[in-house]
Amino acid sequence: MQIAVNILILLDFYAMTTLHTQEELQAIISPLKLAKKRIGLVPTMGALHQGHLSLVTRSLSECDLTVVSIFVNPTQFNNTDDLAKYPRHLDRDTALLNQLSDDIIVFAPTAENIYGTEVTAQKFDFGSLGQHMEGQHRPGHFDGVATVVSLLFDAVTPDRAYFGEKDYQQLRIIETLVKIQQRPTVIVPCPIARSHQGLALSSRNERLDQKQLQQALLLSQVLKQAHQSFDSKNFQDLKNTAISAFNDAPEFELEYFEIADVESLVPTSTKEPNKKYRAFIAAHLGGVRLIDNLELN
Ligand code: PAF
Repeated sequence: MQIAVNILILLDFYAMTTLHTQEELQAIISPLKLAKKRIGLVPTMGALHQGHLSLVTRSLSECDLTVVSIFVNPTQFNNTDDLAKYPRHLDRDTALLNQLSDDIIVFAPTAENIYGTEVTAQKFDFGSLGQHMEGQHRPGHFDGVATVVSLLFDAVTPDRAYFGEKDYQQLRIIETLVKIQQRPTVIVPCPIARSHQGLALSSRNERLDQKQLQQALLLSQVLKQAHQSFDSKNFQDLKNTAISAFNDAPEFELEYFEIADVESLVPTSTKEPNKKYRAFIAAHLGGVRLIDNLELN
């Protein structure tokens, strides 16, 4: 009884705190773990939007305490300009989370605190999951993601961790990481949050002006078109239609449009019965790299 009361006091005391070190975090989490409280983790790079908040809301409904990590991870950027321009608003982010609930701890470590002295990525082999699309166009990206997620999992020891399907390849890689490392954490996939017009929510959207926000709808429109034509067209035709839509929009630079089966994430031009497919897209608009994806069948 006394332990339960202490835990409640602890939860109340640390509610909506921002912590910057693993040591401070452990001091709160260890007694909660001992008391079998369920810890949820929502890993983010900040610049929070409704998509992140939907993951946090899901975690709050399933866990006793939710840790939201906010850390712009340098090892997953293969482009220094992209890293430098990545939006950072810790105060605004914590205020948003504050409005949501008291049962949240914000963990915003420094690179040194999370990595130690060597801020470098480990090498991983995720087979075909990491070789195409983002893996091909952003060399080293998934090594950086897997490294930091591993370190965050060590620091938080979450029972459940929440990842959005917008980064579908990342989600599949994290599921594999947990298997390889035999971690007990349950990975919870969450649907893509979209604006009412269909734009996939992303921290990078902040860097688009009003006109570009309208233009950016092309990504979800092209995906929707592929979904609608899935039964009537072959994959090469779906791909050609997508590419030609981007050719007609010179403000964009299309990086890739691919259709891949959801198991292997290997792009394919051949539709096979009984397989599930997703279409994936990456395009640059006004110097901002946007990605999106959609289940096709
Ligand atoms: O999806 C993201 O925001 C990042 O890749 C993640 C998972 C927080 C790792 O830095």
